[in-house]
Amino acid sequence: MLTSPDLAAHRIAAEPYYRPVGDEIAVFEAAWAHRLPVMLKGPTGCGKTRFVEHMAWRLGRPLITVAAHEDMTAADLAGRFLLDAQGTVWHDGPLTQAVRHGAICYLDEIVEARQDTTVVIHPLTDARRVLPLEKRGELIPAHADFQLVISYNPGYQSAVKDLKESTKQRFIAIDFDYPAPEIEAEIIRREAGVEAGLAATLVAIAACSRRLRGQGLDEGASTRMLIHAGRLASGGVGLETAVNAAIVLPITDDADMRAALRVAINACLP
Ligand SMILES: Nc1ncnc2c1ncn2[C@@H]1O[C@H](COP(=O)(O)OP(=O)(O)OP(=O)(O)O)[C@@H](O)[C@H]1O
Ligand SMILES: [Mg+2]
Repeated sequence: MLTSPDLAAHRIAAEPYYRPVGDEIAVFEAAWAHRLPVMLKGPTGCGKTRFVEHMAWRLGRPLITVAAHEDMTAADLAGRFLLDAQGTVWHDGPLTQAVRHGAICYLDEIVEARQDTTVVIHPLTDARRVLPLEKRGELIPAHADFQLVISYNPGYQSAVKDLKESTKQRFIAIDFDYPAPEIEAEIIRREAGVEAGLAATLVAIAACSRRLRGQGLDEGASTRMLIHAGRLASGGVGLETAVNAAIVLPITDDADMRAALRVAINACLP
């Protein structure tokens, strides 16, 4: 017996706001036209997830998102037999649902998954476009509208956690980074509901924090963090308190680094 899921829950009804920063929409649409798998590369909080949500909406496809983690097994993606009142019933995993019914499957933070898990996507992401379900003895040809998208934070992973060469080379890649100041300010204004002056200040703060990258900070403040700070500030918290709570405290536990970051940020405050 096969349970047939309803993909309606995965449809995106309203347009997710996405501010393009380059030719990423055109590249994704060209990849989609050939159902080529796409890899979104870039630091945390720079718009990868928002972009794939926007593209799924734009292309009118349901979006099934899976957050990869180190205990993830191939069965978590493909599916498994479960015992219930009717006996043993097969349940499609999220990847199998997307393959059967024609969704975009977004595997977030793919490097977290073990390499033996990532190889299940190999026959899906080359000319074969099939998903073998060994436990069911079934070979599923991908639905014409199936597409695989993965995200990848270059630089955060160790060599052991990097993607296999044979996995990487199956994908089209789109590079993401924190947008140019005026675009980032526009995003913050819109997402945090703050006025232009505050958005510009937050972008300046981000620039200061990003200069400390590699000098004790793995990463500067992300666009996501700036939006959080903007929301706190527009909620009535003072700017310094908002920036401390949304940026300084989450980004590092090191007291000296926090102090250095505060000094750098204070130099940017109006
Ligand atoms: N170009 C953009 N257009 C609209 N919103 C954006 C854009 N870039 C970033 N954002 C905002 O920043 C937030 C964080 O972005 P998102 O969640 O997409 O980051 P991510 O790259 O997926 O990060 P992670 O790697 O941590 O998952 C979004 O919720 C959105 O509010
Ligand atoms: Mg994300």
